[in-house]
Amino acid sequence: MKFFIDTANLQEIQEAQNLGVLDGVTTNPSLMAKEGISGKDNIIAHYKAICAIVDGDVSAEVISTDYEGMIAEGEILAALDEKIVVKVPMIKDGIRAIRYFSNKGIKTNCTLVFSAGQALLAAKAGATYVSPFVGRLDDISFDGTKLIEQIRTIYDNYGFETEILAASIRHPVHILQCAEIGADVMTGPLSAILALLKHPLTDIGLEKFMKDMAGKWN
Ligand code: E4P
Repeated sequence: MKFFIDTANLQEIQEAQNLGVLDGVTTNPSLMAKEGISGKDNIIAHYKAICAIVDGDVSAEVISTDYEGMIAEGEILAALDEKIVVKVPMIKDGIRAIRYFSNKGIKTNCTLVFSAGQALLAAKAGATYVSPFVGRLDDISFDGTKLIEQIRTIYDNYGFETEILAASIRHPVHILQCAEIGADVMTGPLSAILALLKHPLTDIGLEKFMKDMAGKWN
């Protein structure tokens, strides 16, 4: 399972990269706005800065919602770095745009996916990644991981190569559930990744080991 971090914060991205387990980054317009990024030049500079930190794919979302606008923006974004994946919303023009980018060999991430039907369409259009939002479904009392299961079954039935990018991951249990189901990628905050480290028996065990061998190195 690939680990992506869902943030536009450079410090957090660097910290995750330093951990040695990071495979990529996803951003969205809200995350960019949270970092105070606005204006075409600043947006471009920020994506370049992210690409300079990580080795893997970096999802950069278009802000336009019409076909021509998404194509124009996506082509600019894709030209910035080969790591850039153009993130496109699950709307009619978005599906057309994904088909266009796919035909040109430009990587795409179909975002705001909340149903298996939407995921099927994204795969048919040739999306590189599909992003079902697990946490936001949980928020409305629908088990988001059930959607991941459904998409896994459908994609496996037909051999679709679109990667399932479990998004809106909120905590370590989400990561484990998606890993058991076989999601290709998960994206979430650094806190969810770091929470995988934690176990009280590890802390208790380490404390005892340190106490037993205290001062015995030299
Ligand atoms: C997907 O790529 C989105 O950026 C993201 O995962 C949304 O997560 P949220 O529901 O925590 O905002």
